[in-house]
Amino acid sequence: MLRSHTCGELRISDIGKSVKLCGWVQKSRDLGALTFVDLRDRYGITQLFFNQEDNPELCEKARKLGREFVVAAIGKVRERSSKNANRATGDIEIEVTELSILNESKVPPFTIDDDTDGGDELRMKYRYLDIRRMPVMNNLIFRSKLAIETRKFLSSLNFVEVETPVLIKSTPEGARDFVVPSRMNAGQFYALPQSPQTFKQLLMVSGLDRYFQIVKCFRDEDLRADRQPEFTQIDCEMSFITQEDILQTFEALTKYLFKTLKGIDLPTFPRMTYDEAMLKYGSDKPDLRFSMEFVELNDLVKGKGFSVFDEAKLIVGINAEGQAAKYSNKDLKDLTEWMKRPQIGAKGLVYVKYEEDGSIKSTVGKFYSDEDIKIWLERFSAKPGDILFILSGETDATRKQLSELRLEMGNRMGLRQPHDFKPLWVMDFPLLEWDEDTQRFYAMHHPFTSPKKEDINRMLDGDHETMKALRADAYDLVLNGVEIGGGSIRIHDRTLQEKNFKLLGFTEEEAEAQFGFLMGAFEFGAPPHGGIAFGFDRLCAVMNGQNTIRDFIAFPKNNQGRDVMIDAPSPIDKAQLKELYLEIKTE
Ligand code: AMO
Repeated sequence: MLRSHTCGELRISDIGKSVKLCGWVQKSRDLGALTFVDLRDRYGITQLFFNQEDNPELCEKARKLGREFVVAAIGKVRERSSKNANRATGDIEIEVTELSILNESKVPPFTIDDDTDGGDELRMKYRYLDIRRMPVMNNLIFRSKLAIETRKFLSSLNFVEVETPVLIKSTPEGARDFVVPSRMNAGQFYALPQSPQTFKQLLMVSGLDRYFQIVKCFRDEDLRADRQPEFTQIDCEMSFITQEDILQTFEALTKYLFKTLKGIDLPTFPRMTYDEAMLKYGSDKPDLRFSMEFVELNDLVKGKGFSVFDEAKLIVGINAEGQAAKYSNKDLKDLTEWMKRPQIGAKGLVYVKYEEDGSIKSTVGKFYSDEDIKIWLERFSAKPGDILFILSGETDATRKQLSELRLEMGNRMGLRQPHDFKPLWVMDFPLLEWDEDTQRFYAMHHPFTSPKKEDINRMLDGDHETMKALRADAYDLVLNGVEIGGGSIRIHDRTLQEKNFKLLGFTEEEAEAQFGFLMGAFEFGAPPHGGIAFGFDRLCAVMNGQNTIRDFIAFPKNNQGRDVMIDAPSPIDKAQLKELYLEIKTE
């Protein structure tokens, strides 16, 4: 071993020991007679000490060390005269007797420190240097522990980890596939899995009974802070279970992970139907760290001459408690503009200020008397000092816009504390979603999701309107407003699966060509089964109070889906294209 200890472990009790340390030079300070070097490795930083008088040659060598040089130092642990209480090794230093430079380093393109001066793009280009920074390093260590504890927990419950293939055939899960051309099959393509959905169901037909996999999934979709084109799932499936069994098992897994990794005891997870979540929060992944529930006003505001409300399908608002005094006319105008941005798309924002002195100020005072508005205030349980924000329009769009405002107000009011954890099961999702533009149904979760038992007969012979009302045994795990996981009880019967494909617009031939293998398997004794998949990167981020999953992925892609370090994607040469039957024909 080149080292006897790490740079994070020596303490006052080690004084007098002879040690060998290796690491990177964080920084060096040349004070003339004395030189100090901070030596860093994954475990921490230890101060090296060099004395000009005792060993001028060695001191000279130390002075010449540049940032990020890799060095080995041999010396004796001694007590520091000026201690550093912020550092675990801050009571000691190493009086160095031998120093070897293991490798030199160019000046790094950004400071390798907890707070760096490097912008995102630069950090990604030199990701291997970015990972030297403790916050990033610790995120990766956390991720590793999370995977190990997940495996421990699930294998203790008899789950078997099975690897499913990466070169597969397209599975429609809502996003686009990444495809891989086949050299041996002219003009044909594999798809990378958006999830191992069909394979895990087939494993249930095989009798594997309990499957899991920490698995890479690939989706060619627009990227956001919580979305990467390749990401990881904790993917699970179980046979002979009810929805309740799945909720219990994966609530237990989540609690176990929080307890072991964060020392936090989560309470029993509340449950809410999809309908209730939409009604109260305008979102199927409500952030329950704060209340600020929606209050509908349709019955109170129509017929008073305010055409905007009269023509709206839904008039709904929130109460930002105690915020009236904080919002000047200018602030309210700015907030209205913020709501009108294309990302949100509100047409306007009505407010009602309930001033501390009990007076009322509102954008709609012309149409509604103070008496009218007092009834609204009562419905919101508003107190003097509160401010109501009200939106109106089409039902779904208005709820979505108000949900954005609710989250924004939650941020502004400091109600979304990153280390306050509020889990929630959202359940009873609709089975199908009708899309007006394309005039067709889409699967709300995926095409393999089962309707609720009581809805099966209606699904087999109901009319169009009936289909819109079908509910599924589908559930999402939401944590602090982030969808951490989703799953469902599956269809395990050929007839029902065929019917579902038909509703989703597949012809019989298309369904057979794409999913004949699965429907065929259902005819060989498929057990009732169901499962769930957690977004592993999202779980890592949320457990650490963050929302950017990139910081928990060793080598992530940027927002354009590029790996700027290895420069991918990139063109391939003509010969390679030809081999893959992908020649681009030029005139
Ligand atoms: P779903 O599509 O809901 O379900 O995905 C499961 C979870 O994966 C995470 N996730 C993502 N994380 C990062 N980047 C992405 N692009 C991304 N897309 C999804 C989310 C999500 O909740 N086969 C089903 C699961 C099942 O039914 O068992 C599936 O994949 O946290």
